[in-house]
Amino acid sequence: FFSTYMGEDPVLVVRNSQGKVNAFLNTCRHRGNRVCRADAGSASAFTCSYHGWTYDTAGRLIAVPNFEDAYFGELDRAEWGLIPVARIDQYKGLIFATFDPAAPPLGEYLGEMAWYLDILLDRREGGTEVVGGVHKWVMPCNWKFAADNFQGDSYHVRWTHLSASIAGFGRRPEKRPTEKGIMIDTGNGHGLGAQLAPIDDDEPIPELRGYNEAIFREVEKRLGSERAGKIWPIHGNVFPTFSLLWPNRFHVIRVWHPKGPARTEVWSWCIVDKAASPEVKAAMARESVRTFGPGGAFEED
Ligand code: FES
Repeated sequence: FFSTYMGEDPVLVVRNSQGKVNAFLNTCRHRGNRVCRADAGSASAFTCSYHGWTYDTAGRLIAVPNFEDAYFGELDRAEWGLIPVARIDQYKGLIFATFDPAAPPLGEYLGEMAWYLDILLDRREGGTEVVGGVHKWVMPCNWKFAADNFQGDSYHVRWTHLSASIAGFGRRPEKRPTEKGIMIDTGNGHGLGAQLAPIDDDEPIPELRGYNEAIFREVEKRLGSERAGKIWPIHGNVFPTFSLLWPNRFHVIRVWHPKGPARTEVWSWCIVDKAASPEVKAAMARESVRTFGPGGAFEED
């Protein structure tokens, strides 16, 4: 979806004043320059920095410098708008898009993975929001390495992250794998790792201690007892390039942008319950950076 485009420029997503969301290739139709260079903000139009072609928020080409004397009025502006994605849809605040017109509907594509995504996205009234902006960095590896690691490689945790765990950034390291962990294949290439027991029983962060217990009844009412207290997803991936970490203390969502066969640009956000207190949101944002930010104790491993 959205992030499988292999070029330098990802997709430009625009929400208009009526709430309608459009998405386009972030590439000028003239000579391929990037159209929008901001991560977020408000704009009534996008002007290419190379020759000044300007597009409105619906992707239409609305201005061409020297239209009469350079193009003799012959350029059909209607033909030269931004290239829209073939399909766009949303799931509980996340926007998915594809350039494949034959792709299945989003609900069908997510399949059973949506049941698990709700444990992150829909446990409280109002859903979720991202806090702290986006973190970006480049890794010298293929995007499939990262996606596979988040989807199904719990095996590395106790060894790769041993020093971070000993230092107190995670739960106390155990000597042996636990039978409480399961790997789940939800089909269509998606999957996740989860535990069948609470994972915050030794929560060291004061602001987060007791948060999950405090919202338990609300979550149970919304999602049922299984998703409120019997299954605890930790990491997962929606094929191909959308990954999640939600081990309670902090919640991180990521997109792996392929930049070539051995280069991946990571875009990473902290996501929180919208209904959480400012203290809980701030603590989760801090923990997401301390652990899985670009200089985080686990991320560096
Ligand atoms: Fe954008 Fe020329 S490349 S106006």
